Amino acid sequence: MAETSQDLDALKQEILTQVAAAPDAQALDAVRVAALGKKGAVSELMKGLGKMSPEERKVMGPALNGLKTALTDAITTRAAALQEAALEARLATEHVDVTLPVMPEPQGSIHPVTQVMDEIIAIFADLGFEVKEGPDIEDDFHNFTALNFPLGHPARDMHDTFFFPANEKGERKLLRTHTSPVQIRTMESQKPPIRIIVPGRTYRCDSDQTHTPMFHQVEGLVIDTETHMGHLKWCLEEFAKAFFEVDDIRARFRPHFFPFTEPSAEMDIGYTRKGNEIRVGEGKDWLEILGCGMVHPNVLKNVGLDPDVYQGFAFGMGIDRLAMLKYGIPDLRDFFAADLRWLSHYGFAALDAPNLATGLSR
Ligand code: DAH
Repeated sequence: MAETSQDLDALKQEILTQVAAAPDAQALDAVRVAALGKKGAVSELMKGLGKMSPEERKVMGPALNGLKTALTDAITTRAAALQEAALEARLATEHVDVTLPVMPEPQGSIHPVTQVMDEIIAIFADLGFEVKEGPDIEDDFHNFTALNFPLGHPARDMHDTFFFPANEKGERKLLRTHTSPVQIRTMESQKPPIRIIVPGRTYRCDSDQTHTPMFHQVEGLVIDTETHMGHLKWCLEEFAKAFFEVDDIRARFRPHFFPFTEPSAEMDIGYTRKGNEIRVGEGKDWLEILGCGMVHPNVLKNVGLDPDVYQGFAFGMGIDRLAMLKYGIPDLRDFFAADLRWLSHYGFAALDAPNLATGLSR
């Protein structure tokens, strides 16, 4: 037997050095196999025990067993240390910052009417207007009388009004036929200067491809001491350019009649039709987009404002119609059919709020 206990010590030191140097579990296992595996250095020495004399075996047997135990312990300890280090490293890279805000997946889409309302609000907010709301169920005074529709005036009949049954005093509430009553409510409760827009639901007893009993309007009102028709024209042209996302627009103001404005006009914008597509801003055809005018002195008197001190302009437009024009939607009735296929086709991304800086509809 050639090995001496010194040789065994040297072997032990060598293997222990390898164990300590093993960088990971795989390298450590290679060291284990080379020492203690079936053909490993220590196993080979063990196989030699059988050929030794009983005296030699008495010395070498315990020495080899001791070596095996010492190596096994060292490997086990090193394996545990490596495993812990690997876990530490993984935890460091997979670190979760629980203070970060949650980003839920947006679900569903924004209805074209909501989108267009948000676009209109973004444009007028940029021009210094404030958003107002009013009740859907109105009284005759706010919907008609205060807006200079005298009792029995034929303009009242043109509104196809939904009336509620009369109360004990004989007064009938109604579903507002336009957003104009919020002009009155605002002037009753707030001193000029006033710059408001009023998006909201309106109702008329009418239904075909371009009319639904419930539809949407946005009203605008500016009251100050020096507001004139030049302001109205500039403001509405700026609106049309921003809304249709074009650099220039052709516009004309046609005389019209509304009881609550004098003079009154309808605003048309130029467009061309290319196939099914409507191009706004260019071309020889005219498209009516809104009604407007200078607030009638009677309306100012009805809310206690002196028409010799205050003047202003107002406008009103149909939101659904603007949505159809801008986004090429052919039938108004589909707006309110709640068909998911229609909504996912014409709807807008849930988290893309329109704003002028990044583009309204992008
Ligand atoms: N209220 C009108 C309608 O429903 C629209 C309108 C026209 C509103 C002219 C206005 C305006 O404020 O000045 O037909």
